[in-house]
Amino acid sequence: MNVFETKLICKTFQGLEGVLAEELEGLKAKNIEIIKRAVVCDYDLELLYRCNLELRTCLKVLVPLFEFESTSPEDLYGFAMRIPWEDYFNLDQTFAIDFTIQSEYFTHSQFASLKLKDAICDRFRKFNDDKRPDVNPQHPDILFNLHINRDKVTISLDSSGTSLHQRGNRVEQTIAPINEVLAAGLILMSKWDRQSHFLDAMCGSGTIVIEAATMAINKAPNLDRNYFCFKNWKNYDKTLFNDLCSVLENDIRDFSFKIIGSDNNKKSVFTAKSNVRHAGLSNLIEIREASIQKMIPPLGSGTLIINPPYGERMEAYQIDLLYKQIGDAFKQHFTGYTCCVISNNFEGMKNFGLRPAKKYPVVNGKLDCLFYIYEMYEGTRRKQKSESENESESEGDQHDFKSSDH
Ligand SMILES: C[S@@+](CC[C@H](N)C(=O)[O-])C[C@H]1O[C@@H](n2cnc3c(N)ncnc32)[C@H](O)[C@@H]1O
Repeated sequence: MNVFETKLICKTFQGLEGVLAEELEGLKAKNIEIIKRAVVCDYDLELLYRCNLELRTCLKVLVPLFEFESTSPEDLYGFAMRIPWEDYFNLDQTFAIDFTIQSEYFTHSQFASLKLKDAICDRFRKFNDDKRPDVNPQHPDILFNLHINRDKVTISLDSSGTSLHQRGNRVEQTIAPINEVLAAGLILMSKWDRQSHFLDAMCGSGTIVIEAATMAINKAPNLDRNYFCFKNWKNYDKTLFNDLCSVLENDIRDFSFKIIGSDNNKKSVFTAKSNVRHAGLSNLIEIREASIQKMIPPLGSGTLIINPPYGERMEAYQIDLLYKQIGDAFKQHFTGYTCCVISNNFEGMKNFGLRPAKKYPVVNGKLDCLFYIYEMYEGTRRKQKSESENESESEGDQHDFKSSDH
């Protein structure tokens, strides 16, 4: 059995591994390695706290503790009984186990995690007059992560507890809110310079503009969050954590450009306004009721990111029309802007009549999507149109614009 506390595993959504690795570089993490839906780097206690507070595209920060091979739940129980759990937490603390299991040896994943829970409790009982710690699945003091891939078992400590997308900002949701971690990932992929305007013209509950605003003022996304499991660990360094929070508070700066969210749905506008207020960002974010067709952006340059309906609740002709209208709005009103769209309706996107400068695969919930980035350059529309028409004829596709990359 290998015992190690030498690595951090920062989990994220598929498609965001690259931006997360860049964020970790910004925190000066060492030996950064991208794996599927996660980025691994060297362990360091200060870095662990900073990852939880500062990473915008991270869902959880895990510290792997033990790794061994096992091919049955009984075998797993035997290994786990030999682990000194009392070194990691006390009898009066609650615990829970999260699990991800892909193995022909552990076909009933719940059973494997139950065996681990039994081993932890039995080990405590053995050395504590038959007393054992309680399980609290919702809000544990200590959260373990059981990962089994075939016969390879890894048990980690989950330093975050609940997912880090729960920044404590959003109080109400609209019909299809985007996850905060994905919203932040899209903003980072758009390469918004934070020195120009930022817009979401289909803002729903306001998630994307709220993420943009915290980036604009350089506020760590989880600075206002209280619950982190690492605060219950035996090695918790409260002074170090509080000092880091003070530094982050001091790093907050002013922002003088506009951040605007708009939506054509009254209820969404109401929800977005109340979420912006709850996040303490009303002085930075303006929420308007407007259809994207009529949205006139502030003069100058900026970035627009939208998460339009994908068409699940609409007829095909309606979504085709909406996507055509969005493309037309980009062409008519957003010259000078970088316009970005996340969608899984690839057919619908053809109605934009625009060629993206870049496309990135991302996953939104269970949906495989693309994140499209369009550069709406000033003064180049006619030139690009005629070039594009020539290409469209040969490609049988419809493009009015194309990016400078092509
Ligand atoms: C998928 S939701 C956006 C969710 C949002 N990103 C969030 O995190 O809550 C799509 C939004 O587009 C809005 N919408 C649909 N058609 C619109 C239009 N023509 N103009 C402006 N907003 C529109 C809907 O009201 C809805 O709030």
